Amino acid sequence: DKKITIAIDGFSSTGKSTLAKQLAKQLGYVYVDTGAMYRAIAFFSMQNNLIKTDFFDKEGLINHLSTIRLEFKFNPDLGFAEMYLNGENVEKQIRTIEVSNFVSKVAEIPEVRTKLVQQQQEMGKNKAVVMDGRDIGTVVFPDAELKIFMTASAQTRAQRRFDELIQKGDSVTFEEVLKNVEERDYIDTHRSNSPLVIAKDAIEIDNSNLNREEQFDLVLDLVNKKR
Ligand code: C5P
Repeated sequence: DKKITIAIDGFSSTGKSTLAKQLAKQLGYVYVDTGAMYRAIAFFSMQNNLIKTDFFDKEGLINHLSTIRLEFKFNPDLGFAEMYLNGENVEKQIRTIEVSNFVSKVAEIPEVRTKLVQQQQEMGKNKAVVMDGRDIGTVVFPDAELKIFMTASAQTRAQRRFDELIQKGDSVTFEEVLKNVEERDYIDTHRSNSPLVIAKDAIEIDNSNLNREEQFDLVLDLVNKKR
């Protein structure tokens, strides 16, 4: 088999990471969750008081960027890699609604994107990688052999996200989650730097009416045609 690069982009809560993890496991590829990297930088900003109620100290964050070290460490019990920020496991802390509400503002900063894109390109330079995010097929790996773009209605995505958060024991309302999904869609598609757009050669999959298995089979078929 030929080793390829698989780029999975799309809106938030379309199930990109579930699909990407499943694919990586099946193929024996590395999975990279680039959203986790943006989330870790958002968490860093919160931890270092760079975010006040009505002010985000972007300059302060930019000045700190060179001191921020992001790593993925594989956890064999979970079967996937967890995010480490300056040596600390932050996998739980980066999945809160507070981080979700803030992360798109961090992802708009050109200096942040440059740093993370470089690291992502380094991680994928030997191929055999499944990377999910917003700009993987357009910016990080424009030459990826397979590009998938996932969509689903905002209602469907908010419902999935809501169910997940409730199961984790978070006390959120459906309206709050829907608002977050819509706001992130807006910011992610309207930012001037690497906005979320579908790459010309990407295959679009609307999974509003597909279950995980149907989706997986569909994509695995596409992968096998490229290998
Ligand atoms: O994928 P996830 O929802 O965890 O990503 C969180 C946020 O990080 C997105 O809403 C987006 O603002 C940002 N992001 C990005 N580029 C990527 C991955 C994530 O801008 N490649």
